[in-house]
Amino acid sequence: MNSIGIIGSGHVGAHTAYSLAIQGIADNIILVDINKKKADSERQDIFDSLMFLPHKVSIQSGDYSDLGRCDIIINAAGKVDILINNNDRLQEMRYTISAVNSFVDKVMASGFNGIVISISNPCDVVARQFAKLSGLPRGHVFGTGTALDTSRLRSALSRVTGIHTESICAYVLGEHGASQMAAWSAVSIGGKSLDDWAKTHERFRFDRDAIQSEAREAGWVTFAGKNCTEYGICSSAARLAQIVLHDEKIIMPVSAELCGEYGQDDIFIGVPAVIGADGVEEVVELSLSQEDLSRFRQCCDDVRQNIRHAEIYSKEIHQ
Ligand code: LAC
Repeated sequence: MNSIGIIGSGHVGAHTAYSLAIQGIADNIILVDINKKKADSERQDIFDSLMFLPHKVSIQSGDYSDLGRCDIIINAAGKVDILINNNDRLQEMRYTISAVNSFVDKVMASGFNGIVISISNPCDVVARQFAKLSGLPRGHVFGTGTALDTSRLRSALSRVTGIHTESICAYVLGEHGASQMAAWSAVSIGGKSLDDWAKTHERFRFDRDAIQSEAREAGWVTFAGKNCTEYGICSSAARLAQIVLHDEKIIMPVSAELCGEYGQDDIFIGVPAVIGADGVEEVVELSLSQEDLSRFRQCCDDVRQNIRHAEIYSKEIHQ
């Protein structure tokens, strides 16, 4: 019987809980929120659906001290209203870094020794902060990172090429944010590179910048209509939790800690990684073109800038 804790019962946390329940991924779900009434409300709403679900699942609302028995904790603590009218995930940083700083000690005091999947934005910076404060082993804390962006890219590529996403291996690398990139030199469709396809098929000679921009901006298209995003991100988190629980060893793009890979250190950023029972078990170093490698380095520089801001916020919070 597995147990998954979710910190934050807002749009993303609540939808992730429901996604875990309806897919039968979680046996037990514990919802924690600073607003206990909100956690109780989301628990009750999912509880009311149990008779109609194909799988048995138990769901509680609780406190950080209840998370010690969880195999996985999903961090979805955030305040998405901050992003209204500015389309910048970085604006949430003060809130989400302050939140992580406030509860990681409580989580660890519960005896938690599992895997953390962090969603909260800015995802890469927050995942790194959670990892640093928790002291959990490398790989045991990672962010959803560019998993969702990669899904958006593959869907766009499927539309323009007519090939099912299942046969499209393409990654968005970098920040789950503005500083992300489609690794065009590493795209493989049915085992053929994009350049090879483009030599013989007109529909593969699409505007790459336009497709990359479509993936990068997709979240804001959703946000424009409902001031949040829910289904894409909760599906990303639920699938990653399932991969960890079943030790599937699937390669997924996530916000992983780099310790020398791609020539980078002490940074969490979107790269493909082997995901299994130990979280990020291996970072996959793609053979990128010089152009893509240079673009990736720029993404890393941008995330480092954000890390510096987070460190300043943390100091201010503690003063
Ligand atoms: C998005 C949010 C989760 O991209 O950052 O949908």
